[in-house]
Amino acid sequence: MSSNDILKVAVIGGDGTGPEVVAEGVKVLKAVAKLEGFPVETKEFDYGGKRYLATGEVLPEGAIQELSQFDSILLGAIGHPDVAPGILERGLLLQMRFDFDQYINLRPVKLFPGVETPLAGKKPEDIDFVVVRENTEDLYAGIGGFLKKGTADEVATQTAIYTRKGCERCIRWAFEYTRRRDRKKQLTLVAKTNVLTYGHDLWWRTFQDVAREYPDIKPDYNHVDACCMWMVKNPEYYDVIVTTNMFGDIITDLAGILQGGMGVAAGGNINPEPGGTSMFEPMGGSAPKYTGQNVINPIATISAVAMLLEQAGRQSAADRVMKAIQLVTGTKMKSQAAGKMGYGTREVGDLVVEHLNA
Ligand code: IPM
Ligand code: MN
Repeated sequence: MSSNDILKVAVIGGDGTGPEVVAEGVKVLKAVAKLEGFPVETKEFDYGGKRYLATGEVLPEGAIQELSQFDSILLGAIGHPDVAPGILERGLLLQMRFDFDQYINLRPVKLFPGVETPLAGKKPEDIDFVVVRENTEDLYAGIGGFLKKGTADEVATQTAIYTRKGCERCIRWAFEYTRRRDRKKQLTLVAKTNVLTYGHDLWWRTFQDVAREYPDIKPDYNHVDACCMWMVKNPEYYDVIVTTNMFGDIITDLAGILQGGMGVAAGGNINPEPGGTSMFEPMGGSAPKYTGQNVINPIATISAVAMLLEQAGRQSAADRVMKAIQLVTGTKMKSQAAGKMGYGTREVGDLVVEHLNA
């Protein structure tokens, strides 16, 4: 994309506090676009629990087609107290990941200055790694079923699907990313090859094959259980982690709390192919109890905007946003917890905008 093209962003605020944090993300997006001199266009979509309760559909007919006209999607949060678990997750979040083939779930784990980590003695330079989570296969494929449901003899299956194509494209992207990141140049495969001797054997062999194409990157391996231990004990060990969908889901919640929690953790669901539609989101949920109170932390969403800008090829705008975020966490905010920031949601957004010129 040339820098004079309009950056078109679909905005899905979603449920609970989602629309509030997304409003701050859009505020920062528009401000940085103005500073950097490129046009940006946003369009809001009302998908989420409220719409589902009113209409009975999560994503209306034609929604995926319409969203595919945008360069990126910014998603707030989904999850509604009156909607049964799984409906919105499957019908919206997972649907978009699958339909747009967003096969990379990128989750940077960075302790910003001034942010408290539960790890004693660890500083921003100790917690700075990235998890690349495969995002379309594994237990998330939705393959399985019941036999004799509701009886004492009930059987349930839930099958993990791994394909050579699926793991290879993710692993290859992770090697490329590790090279671009240019830190320790170390890529750790996190899996469970000692137990998942079929599916994770495929991951292991594919990792070895692709590693040969990247002699400048040190290939490394951790079992997932050991990874959880090391991540707490020695987070500075990690540079880039590549892992399967289910394990990636779990370890990124652990990683998220190390970087200060859901108020700051952001992620991208990326289709890296030319013309691919990617979606960026704060990792936290819809936090219904804080809705409408101007207390929720928008930093995670603003970080998601920085990731969106980077993916859209607006690197200097992304850098500006990241720098502003770190000035605000480092010199202004008292805490990253909802209601304890020392500022309201909108005021944190304003502070980031004020620091874009720093
Ligand atoms: C995440 C979430 C989702 C996942 C849920 C909401 C389906 O936990 O993005 O990590 O499991 O991937
Ligand atoms: Mn998760």
